[in-house]
Amino acid sequence: MHLDDNTLHSMEIPGGAETCTNSICAAKDSTTTVPTQSRSCAGGTIEFSTAKLRGLPARFEAQKIAFGPVVFQCVRIAWKSGLLAHLDKAGKVGASLDEIVATGLLKSYAATVLLETALTAGVVRRQDNRYLLTRIGENVLHDELTQINIDYVHDVCYQGLFALEESLREEKPLGLQALGDWPTLYEGLATLSEPARTSWFKFDHYYSDSAFAQALPHVFARRPGRVMDIGANTGKWTLHCLQHEATVRLTLLDLPGQLEQARLNLQQAGLLERADLHPIDILDYDAPFPGDMDAIWMSQFLTCFGLEAIGHIFRRAAASLADGGSVWVLDTFWDRQAHEIASYCVINTSPYFSAIASGNSKMYESDVIIGCAAASGLKLADAIDGLGISHSLLRFERTK
Ligand SMILES: C[S@@+](CC[C@H](N)C(=O)[O-])C[C@H]1O[C@@H](n2cnc3c(N)ncnc32)[C@H](O)[C@@H]1O
Repeated sequence: MHLDDNTLHSMEIPGGAETCTNSICAAKDSTTTVPTQSRSCAGGTIEFSTAKLRGLPARFEAQKIAFGPVVFQCVRIAWKSGLLAHLDKAGKVGASLDEIVATGLLKSYAATVLLETALTAGVVRRQDNRYLLTRIGENVLHDELTQINIDYVHDVCYQGLFALEESLREEKPLGLQALGDWPTLYEGLATLSEPARTSWFKFDHYYSDSAFAQALPHVFARRPGRVMDIGANTGKWTLHCLQHEATVRLTLLDLPGQLEQARLNLQQAGLLERADLHPIDILDYDAPFPGDMDAIWMSQFLTCFGLEAIGHIFRRAAASLADGGSVWVLDTFWDRQAHEIASYCVINTSPYFSAIASGNSKMYESDVIIGCAAASGLKLADAIDGLGISHSLLRFERTK
């Protein structure tokens, strides 16, 4: 079957000054351009489509918030139990409750509870006592993005979010206890138990993998000989680079547990020889980075840290650049999305950082990161939007 456009971010922004055309951002003056190559909604109105609702439709939206976790769980179980797949197979004819129960997937009571909530969510509809799958239901059943998000919310975030309020107050990931006893999620990543482990990696890789191939030519157009991959994780970007260019050397920085996995992956690919592993706790601000780098790469990395730490990361990155080198930041900035569905997914990842991952990081607006880089000796040189699902690639050069 074919679902509607799965691309969350398909807008190409040419070089030079940009106009804010974000669908969630109705700038007061739509012809206003901002200096440099950064695009910001900060001065205009930021409004999702639901914000325009009034009267009963607005009240209905408020109830969707009130019952959000209930609907989430019922639809998730309807998917996991095979109920939605059964309705998909039943096609335009649909299935009666008796026929559903006869499949043995669910008993009558469970099926009615799930189906009735699925009705309220528009996931199924009922016609002449027969249940039919809707387009929303098809998205839950077939759309990879939706499924990866559901698994991540359930397996990684759901229990921990109960501690969001205290986590925000204390700026500590107090919900992480639901997964294990570590100061941040990243110390636990290598030993995370299932199903959280698979759901975390699928979520992380689904987003970043989508942009790597498109980002590669931009980085290699500048012919770097030495590239440093900060927050290298399992070595996916490093592998892309080593396979792309036969002479390039990569230096991987991450916590020791993650680098062990990266080592195995590089070994398996026969590419370990051109890679240097450099275990580091980035939060030790006195730990210097290896120097003389032509390109420093940080993908979905800065979102793991608060602004003070990001400043210290940029400062050390600037110091380890070779003359003429660039710092590259690939990330999902919520202000640079072409569709509100993308901004919605990106923004709603922030509470995971608060309650589970770090306690003090989030999905940032691009100007915040660009400003932080500027204060740490790095000026924005290029900004390329529309990579992968929802990524932007920022290139920085040393100020002096
Ligand atoms: C969200 S993942 C991104 C991984 C990869 N760059 C990508 O694009 O898929 C963040 C990475 O930062 C690493 N990280 C987080 N905190 C760290 C710390 N204190 N020191 C070193 N690395 C850290 C994590 O281990 C993880 O591999």
